Amino acid sequence: MTDARSTNITWHSGSVSRADREKLLGQRGVTLWLTGLSASGKSTIACIVEKMLLDRKKHAYRLDGDNVRHGLNKNLGFSAEERAENIRRIGEVAKLFTDAAVIVIASFISPYRKDRDAVRANLGAGDFVEVYVKVSVEAAERRDPKGLYKKARAGEIKGFTGIDDPYEAPERPEIVIDTENTDPENAARRVLEYLDAHGYLQS
Ligand code: ADX
Repeated sequence: MTDARSTNITWHSGSVSRADREKLLGQRGVTLWLTGLSASGKSTIACIVEKMLLDRKKHAYRLDGDNVRHGLNKNLGFSAEERAENIRRIGEVAKLFTDAAVIVIASFISPYRKDRDAVRANLGAGDFVEVYVKVSVEAAERRDPKGLYKKARAGEIKGFTGIDDPYEAPERPEIVIDTENTDPENAARRVLEYLDAHGYLQS
């Protein structure tokens, strides 16, 4: 699915650089990549981070699994190959936003390490911050806000992450948030602290 089929194409650089855009916005472009099981709390944390950043006059934009699958990736299911293509496309979108000097908050299960690592490699050093939103399957299943774990247990959904499909936890994430012991507000504050400490909130 990722084979390049376009030929005779040339990259066109404009006269406005990323540095120009970062200066204008007073921030550095970056992709915060939230990975974790369904019901781990990724989307909740992402929403709070986005709001906190906007309150600080920082330009942030959320890319979210369920939302992106309504449009850009509506033709993709949940096989390993389709999840890889899902993450690859999101990675490319995130790279564009990052170049636009936006703080991207991407929240996708992204269960395969190699898919996440490919996005990291494509974005480059400092542009990709992996946030592991950690929860046990048992706790996620107890929350089950969309009733999907129940359906998966009943065999109504096949290949559900954590039940009959794998989740590969990150090995060296920049941030780990254990949502069984941290509330979403605190989790979001930790992400903001990271951005502050690493100079992303100034140009
Ligand atoms: S990913 O694995 O490709 O990264 P993504 O984050 O886009 O997944 O979408 C996950 C969302 O799709 C879940 O929050 C859930 O609402 C829904 N979903 C539907 N089927 C599945 C499935 N088989 N496994 C996991 N999530 C599923």
